[in-house]
Amino acid sequence: MPKVTFEMESVTVEIPEGQTIWHAAQKAGIQLQRGFAAANPCAGKGRCSGMACAVFLRAPDPAAAVTPPTWKERFLHRKLLKNRKRIACQCIPKRDLTVVTMP
Ligand code: FES
Repeated sequence: MPKVTFEMESVTVEIPEGQTIWHAAQKAGIQLQRGFAAANPCAGKGRCSGMACAVFLRAPDPAAAVTPPTWKERFLHRKLLKNRKRIACQCIPKRDLTVVTMP
């Protein structure tokens, strides 16, 4: 079971294999959406607009620590990928890692 540490919130949770960073945030009680977006929480289905649920991964090799980008990230969130961010519900940790949520 990989451990996901949320750096800004100083919280670490363990999640079962196959669950996403979005699930880890839910388990830790962390709200990924801020501002106006928080009024309409996402369902973790990859439909966030803009940077709503974008996270930055901190690991020695971030690409190897999580599953590769999904088609939703590659086509709907290209700019985020380019900036080395991921959509929380679209990446599944393969090993322990640290996540930085967007302020
Ligand atoms: S839709 Fe919000 S994290 Fe995916």
